[in-house]
Amino acid sequence: MGRLAGKVAVVFGGARGIGLATVKEFLAEGATVFASDIREPAEQLDGYRHSIVDATDEDAVAAFVDGVLAEAGRVDVLFNNVGIHLGKPLADTTPAEFDNIFALNVRAAFLGTRAVLPHMIERKAGSIITTSSNGGVMGRPGDPVYNATKHALVGLTKSIAVAHAHQGIRANTVNPGAIDTDMLRSTLNSPEEFETKQHQLVASTPAARVGEAWEVAKAVVFLASDESRFINGVVLPIDGAKAAGAMPGNRYSLDFELGVR
Ligand SMILES: NC(=O)c1ccc[n+]([C@@H]2O[C@H](COP(=O)([O-])OP(=O)(O)OC[C@H]3O[C@@H](n4cnc5c(N)ncnc54)[C@H](O)[C@@H]3O)[C@@H](O)[C@H]2O)c1
Repeated sequence: MGRLAGKVAVVFGGARGIGLATVKEFLAEGATVFASDIREPAEQLDGYRHSIVDATDEDAVAAFVDGVLAEAGRVDVLFNNVGIHLGKPLADTTPAEFDNIFALNVRAAFLGTRAVLPHMIERKAGSIITTSSNGGVMGRPGDPVYNATKHALVGLTKSIAVAHAHQGIRANTVNPGAIDTDMLRSTLNSPEEFETKQHQLVASTPAARVGEAWEVAKAVVFLASDESRFINGVVLPIDGAKAAGAMPGNRYSLDFELGVR
C-alpha cells in the first residue's frame, strides 16, 4: 500500500518542475491529487485532476479548494509550491518588482493555507508543506528580495506549526538548493551562460552537483505522510549541504577540481 493511500492532496504550482515531480510521487504513493497552476502541465499524466488557478487570486484559490472539498470531502495534504525568481541586486530592484514577487511567493502560500486551514482545524488533521529555498535560511547577494520572500515563508510556516500543532496540523518547509528545473534555466540568458552558471552552482554546492526535482518530491512525500507525524515546524534543506556551512575557500573556485560531477 502506498505511503499516502487514502489521503487527498492539493498542490499549487503543479504544472512543471518540483511541483509536477511531486504530483507524480504523490500519485505513486496512492494519494488522490488535485493540482493547480496558471499553466497546463508540462506532461500529461493519468489519474488526477489539474485545474488552472492563479494562486494569487483569493477568490480563485477559495473556489478551487471548495471544489476539492465538495468532491473529495477532505484535504489531508497541502503543497504550497508556487514561486518565481528575481535575480537582481537590491539597488536594481524596483518597488513594483518587490511588490510583485511578495504578492506571488508569499501571498500564494498565505492564500492556499488560509483556504484549507478551517477545514484542517475542524478535522484536527493536516500536513502543510511549503517550498521555501536555500535562500530561506541564508543571505545571498544576487537575489536578496527573492530570498526575503523565502525567509517569509519560513516564518509563516513555523508560526502555523506553533499555532496549530495541538489541533493535529503540521506545517513544514522544504528548502531546495539549486535544482535543475525551468526556473533555474530561465534565470540564465544563453547556453553559454548556463554552462558557466551551472559550473558555479556545482562549485558552490558541497555535494558538487545540482539536484533533481524528484529528489525534492521524495522529501515532500515524507512530510506529507504519517511517517513524519511528530515533525512540525521544520525547515528541511534538500541542497547537498549548501546551507550547512561554508566550505574551504578554494572549493568555491571555478578551477577547483571537484571530481564528483
Ligand atoms: N529550481 C530551483 O533551483 C529552486 C531552488 C529553491 C527553491 N525553488 C522553489 O521551488 C518552487 C518550484 O520551482 P521550480 O524550480 O519547480 O520552478 P518552476 O518555474 O518550474 O515552477 C513554479 C511553478 O509555479 C507556477 N506559477 C507561477 N506563478 C503562478 C501563479 N500566479 N499561480 C499559480 N501557479 C503559478 C509556474 O507556472 C510553475 O509551474 C518555487 O517556489 C521555487 O521558488 C526552486
